[in-house]
Amino acid sequence: MLIDAVLTPAEIALLPQRDLSGTTCVVFDVLRATSSMISALAHGAAEIHPACTIEEALALKLRMPDAVLGGERNGDPIAGFDVGNSPLEYREAMAGRRIITTTTNGTVALRACELAPRVLVGALLNIAALATELRAEATKRLLLICAGTFETFALEDAYAAGLLIGQLGAATMTDAALTARAVAAAYADPLTALQTARNGQALAASGRAADVEWCAQLSKYNVVGQMSAGVVRLLNA
Ligand code: MLT
Repeated sequence: MLIDAVLTPAEIALLPQRDLSGTTCVVFDVLRATSSMISALAHGAAEIHPACTIEEALALKLRMPDAVLGGERNGDPIAGFDVGNSPLEYREAMAGRRIITTTTNGTVALRACELAPRVLVGALLNIAALATELRAEATKRLLLICAGTFETFALEDAYAAGLLIGQLGAATMTDAALTARAVAAAYADPLTALQTARNGQALAASGRAADVEWCAQLSKYNVVGQMSAGVVRLLNA
């Protein structure tokens, strides 16, 4: 297996021009977009529609009036939307629901790799399930996409990518993948990594420390989320 990683939003913007044929992508936005998605799927959400913009989300809502409209800008809920982007909101209340969500980095990163044959949703919450799935499919080319924060690298996404690499066994790695693995090795536990990250500190400062703690739970859920034709669903549902 060849493992590569995309560590910055600038590289994510270039993904639509990149040859992703034969590549499985795993997208991480641990704080908080992909953690919210995994929480929702684990609690029975029917499907998740990641939208790049508020306008796109509102247009989807017109087509799917019964869908939950969620997301954030600057970490805060969007005016007029049903829920924000706290994973705590994406639990029991999402059972059986369709969700439309737009976030600053996570949903954009997911959509940027929609030309790849396989796109999985990555979080610490389901890291063991992801590793099991990737080992089972005998992935040849794996691209770990770290969504970042605004325009910058985010430690927590590289940390999660590195933890996943550590569960995949022998592989050829690019320097970016080696860097993610080194980030993961630098922290004794997930909560320390997330609380050290700038994003984790910003969330705590805005009263959202419980979100950080939620997202730091390792392999809480044995589920895999996969995006096909722009829609995320539970694998093997
Ligand atoms: C994002 O997609 O940029 C994030 O998940 C932001 C957040 O909710 O804190």
